[in-house]
Parts: sequence; structure tokens; C-alpha cells
Amino acid sequence: MATYDLVVIGTGPGGYVCAIRAAQLGMKVAVVEKWPTFGGTCLNIGCIPSKALLQASERFEEAGHALPKMGVVVGKPKLDLPAMMKFKADGIDGNTKGVAFLFKKNKIDAYSGTGRIAAAGKVEVKAADGAIETLETRNIVIATGSDVARLKGIEIDEKRIISSTGALTLDKVPEKMLVIGAGVIGLELGSVWRRLGSEVVVVEFLDRILPGMDGEIAKSFQRILEKQGITFKLGARVTAIDTSGNMLKSRVEPAAGGAADTIDADVVMVCIGRVPYTEGLGLKEAGVQLDQRGRVQTDGHFATHAKGIYAIGDVIAGPMLAHKAEDEGIAVAEILAGQAGHTNYDVIPGVVYTSPEVAAVGRTEEELKAAGVTYNIGKFPFTANARTKVNQTTDGFVKILADAKTDRVLGVHIIGAEAGEMIHEAAVLMEFGGSAEDLARTCHAHPTRSEAVKEAALAVGKRAIHM
Ligand code: FAD
Ligand code: NAI
Repeated sequence: MATYDLVVIGTGPGGYVCAIRAAQLGMKVAVVEKWPTFGGTCLNIGCIPSKALLQASERFEEAGHALPKMGVVVGKPKLDLPAMMKFKADGIDGNTKGVAFLFKKNKIDAYSGTGRIAAAGKVEVKAADGAIETLETRNIVIATGSDVARLKGIEIDEKRIISSTGALTLDKVPEKMLVIGAGVIGLELGSVWRRLGSEVVVVEFLDRILPGMDGEIAKSFQRILEKQGITFKLGARVTAIDTSGNMLKSRVEPAAGGAADTIDADVVMVCIGRVPYTEGLGLKEAGVQLDQRGRVQTDGHFATHAKGIYAIGDVIAGPMLAHKAEDEGIAVAEILAGQAGHTNYDVIPGVVYTSPEVAAVGRTEEELKAAGVTYNIGKFPFTANARTKVNQTTDGFVKILADAKTDRVLGVHIIGAEAGEMIHEAAVLMEFGGSAEDLARTCHAHPTRSEAVKEAALAVGKRAIHM
């Protein structure tokens, strides 16, 4: 029987990063993965393929609209969807192979099959051919991630009624796509298919898009998406879909009650969130407890109720984000090595990779109000930034929330081109407990979009220069 210091079940960004960090710290490590390739949801059916299609569809739209204005005449762009899908597949392949390389480099043993915790210190791996192998280990990390949340009575066939997974592999552009849920997936993948030619209607249960994001940002971003051609039906939910005809007929009811409406579409995408994935792991028998939402319960330091069994990533509480899973993977490996591993949940950036992007770190105005914290706001629009003006990408603004008493930055929210890259100076500042004054006094290169961040910091003290 093979014996390890650590066996990690699942090789998503949580699991594979945890395995690598543990190996760096001198542990003998194995990973167990049931899918044919490593990298989990993120690399196979999540972050990576969606970003490939976002990138490709943005270039497609740019070729038709923005390039001629710059004097770059390429003619009417033609969509080659199979080639675009190959571009996506190549991106996945490069990334999943990269993880396999890192496992080899760090001498991590990879077992192919479904992992089950057979007893304390024992993981059973069932291969595709049914063969079972048992691994003995001092510690186990559960990193089994999440799965698509489903709507009662609506069956996802991944062809006409799809989840994000089906939305990444459609073989033709739907004429009309109905998106259920105005969260991150709905807006990112809805944008992809809108740019490729679909008419996109988004039905959202709440009276706003992107719950959890700053309210002003969400409102302003909704207007930008509407200008791009996406239609929103807020405060509504789909309760049934009639699949009998050529067109899907979705019954849309107001969330507050009242007369229902019918929306026709040839594809419906269900993206109402994700649920933790713990199927077949043998958690109950192992003494691992779940919370009310089916997430593995931990003590705040990733330890479950069962000795020697830990959990990280989408399967535990917290935002379902790849970088959150990675940070937890590193923290738990360091804890197992006797170090002070830690994840700072107050500074986890969130990015919506639309065009423009939306990026945020720290608290929203709504959260500060609810907590009774007094704050100052500094805002700066991209219409006043030299670089975005010259690039003609002026949609959006930077908003900084700083403590009224101490000037400490508590939240930064950006809508804008490449906001996802710009947010990290705010994250570093906040990790160091920095103030708006610190940011305002930091020299920023000209001409860059990031100057808008500096200007927003100056605006906290009511002294922005270019506004
Ligand atoms: P996962 O990545 O879900 O990996 C879990 C792994 O465990 C899988 O490989 C699975 O096969 C394996 N597994 C499960 N059970 C077993 C078992 N019993 N035995 C063996 N193996 C098992 N996040 C971002 O931060 N940025 C983004 O841009 C982003 N885009 C996304 C786009 C989409 C369409 C989706 C669906 C998600 C996106 N996410 C994004 C979320 C991100 O993918 C997840 O937060 C992240 O993958 C979670 O990592 P994880 O390691 O916890 O689990
Ligand atoms: P989400 O939680 O972001 O959004 C789901 C939306 O659906 C919410 O607005 C919710 O109010 C709405 N909703 C729920 N039930 C509904 C109903 N019955 N009818 C209408 N609307 C309903 O979930 P999403 O978009 O599915 O994404 C899942 C996870 O994947 C998220 O937690 C996110 O963190 C992660 N992800 C992250 C990305 C990124 O970081 N760029 C990209 C894509 C996904």
C-alpha cells in the first residue's frame, strides 16, 4: 500500500496548488482526480475556456466596429466557430498539461479515479475500469469543488437547455438566448454569445444584477450592457420551460407574484449559482460534517470535524473563486507543515471579465452602511483619463471607499477596460492597511488607465486634478 504525508482529492486550483505547496515543504504527496485531465472546473470548464471565448469574441466585435475607426480596414469579419472552439480547446490543453508538468516536477503522484475516504488515513481510488487501490496517508485534503445548481423541473440537456458547460461548446450561434441569472456566468457567457450574434435576454430573480457587488457599480454596469444590446428582465424567475416545439417557451413569473409571461428562445442557459460537490466521498462515515448549504464545515483553519481531514475551495464556505481556492490550498499546506498558513478573506479581488471589466476588492457601500462605518468616497471617470480617451474605451469609473476617520482604504470598485488587471494595486495597498493618501501620493506612469485609480484616491480628499 502506497503511503503519503498528504493525499489531495481533486486537482482544481485548490487541490493542485495545495499539492505543489505541500511538496515544496517536503511532504510526500499524492493527488486523486476523476476527470481525464487536471485543473478542475477552472481549467476544463470554467475560468480558462470562458476567458478564451471572451477574448476571441471581443476581437470579433472589435474587428467589426473599433478597428475601422482606427484606420485598420479588415472588411466584414466572418465567424469561424469551429476555429474559435479550437482556440479555446488549445488554451485548455496548454493549461492542463502545465499542471501535469508541475506534478512531475514536484514529484507528486497522480492517481486517476474517484476518491473516497474509506477510513481515517485511508483513501480508496476507484479507476474507470473498476479497479480499486487504497492509499495510506497522514492527512487528507478534500478539494472536490462545485457543480452547477439546477432549477426544479428544468432539465439541463447541455444542447438546448444548457449550463455554463454547454455554453462553452455550442456548435452554432443561437438566434435567441434566454439567460436565467444575472450573476457572473450569465453576464460573461451572455456577452460572448451576444457578440457572436445572439439576441440575449437575461431574467434575474432580484431587482438588480451582480448581487454582492457595489450597488452603484451594478446599476451603472447594467446600463452599459443594455447599450451593448443585452435585455434585462429583473425581479422575475423562470418557473417552467416547454420543450415540445422548435422554440423553447419559458414561463417567466414576476418574483413578487402576478401575471406570467412567455419568452421564446432557441437556447436557455441556467446560471443561478453553483453547489458544493461532495458526492460519493464517504464523508458521513468518515465523521466529516456539512453545513446547511451542503458545504464541508471547517474550523476556520480548514480542519473538518474528522481528525486529519481538511477541506478547501468551492466545497467550503466563501466566494467560489479560483484564487480563493488557491490561497486556501497554500494556507492548509503551510498549516500541515507547522507554519502559520492564513487566507485574508477581506482582500479577495473579484473580477467579471466582460467588456468593459468589473473589478472589486474589499467592502461595498452597502456593507459599510450596514456595519455603521462612516466613509469618504473618491470617484474618477474614465472619460477624464488620457489613455482611455485616446483608446476610445471610456466606459466606466473608479470608486474608492476610505474610512472617514483613518483614511484607510476599505473598498475599491472599478468598471473599465482591463479593470481586472488594475485592481491589484488596490489589493496590495489594502493588504498593507494603506490609506487613500498613500495611493494618491504614489507616482503612477502616464499615460495609463491606472492613473484613474490615483485620481480616485485624490478625489477621496477632494483634490482630483483632471476633473
Ligand atoms: P474545482 O475546480 O471544481 O475542482 C474540483 C476537482 O475535483 C475536479 O477536477 C473534479 O473532477 C475533482 N473531483 C471531485 N470529486 C472527486 C472525487 N471523489 N475523486 C476525485 N476527483 C474528484 N473563478 C475565478 O476566480 N475566475 C474566473 O474567471 C472564473 N470563471 C469561471 C467560469 C465558469 C464558467 C465557471 C463554472 C466557474 C468559474 N470560476 C472562476 C470559478 C472557479 O472555476 C472555481 O471557483 C474553482 O475552480 C474552484 O476550485 P476548486 O479547486 O475548489 O474546485
Ligand atoms: P452567481 O451566484 O454569480 O449568480 C446567480 C444569479 O442568479 C444571481 O444573481 C441570483 O440572484 C440569480 N438567481 C438565482 N435563482 C434564480 C432564479 N430562480 N431565477 C432567476 N435568477 C435567479 O452564480 P453564477 O453566475 O452561476 O456563477 C457561479 C459561481 O461561479 C459564482 O459563485 C462565481 O463566483 C463563479 N464564477 C466566477 C467568475 C469570475 O470570477 N469571473 C466567472 C464565472 C463564475
